[in-house]
Amino acid sequence: MLVSPSLLAADFLSLRSEVEMLNKGADWIHLDVMDGTLVPNISFGFSVIDPLSSIAIKPLDTHLMVVHPERWFERLASDGVSYVSFHLEAAGRRTSANIARIHELGMKAGVAINPDISVNRLFPYIGKADFFLIMSVFAGFGGQKFIYSSLDRIASLRAEIERRGGQALIEVDGGVSADNAAALRQAGADVLVAGSSVFKSPDPLAAMETLRRA
Ligand code: DX5
Ligand code: ZN
Repeated sequence: MLVSPSLLAADFLSLRSEVEMLNKGADWIHLDVMDGTLVPNISFGFSVIDPLSSIAIKPLDTHLMVVHPERWFERLASDGVSYVSFHLEAAGRRTSANIARIHELGMKAGVAINPDISVNRLFPYIGKADFFLIMSVFAGFGGQKFIYSSLDRIASLRAEIERRGGQALIEVDGGVSADNAAALRQAGADVLVAGSSVFKSPDPLAAMETLRRA
């Protein structure tokens, strides 16, 4: 499985060394952008992403938790971001247009949903989106408890992707740790986002490796 550690749990006073550590052990680097409106928290924006993109070697995986995600696609592309996900709750009817625009800019497009949104609402985007981001906590904060019913949601999305012959990856975000990584793989997850379980570990590189091999 691929591991995309969430920088939200990093030590922001030592961001350079945190990114250098991720350059050694991560598959992707997950960046949580929050606007305080779609989600009840504010994180960071381009004042962090711009400099970080100049030292990151691993692909940047930007999770936009903002009400107007389409406003930021161009700037993300110019930062060399590889993966961009936005919330279906924010995009609504613009979802297909957003996916097309992200593709036009040469990036991979992901559609994210919170735990209270039915996975069936993602089905129309199978064959369009490159990946789906299933939140296994409510978006807004790191360090929350994994919601176990996410496993069934992932399994049903995986089944539908297979039924339609799609190629999309499933990324899971929230409360992911060595305790649930194997179950997530069995349910059909491809990419694990992990904040606390990587950065709060005494050995983050080993924690990433454990998740990858789960
Ligand atoms: C929450 C973010 C997550 C979060 C994950 O809104 O999307 O990426 O940082 O953190 P942990 O792994 O600590 O739940
Ligand atoms: Zn995230």
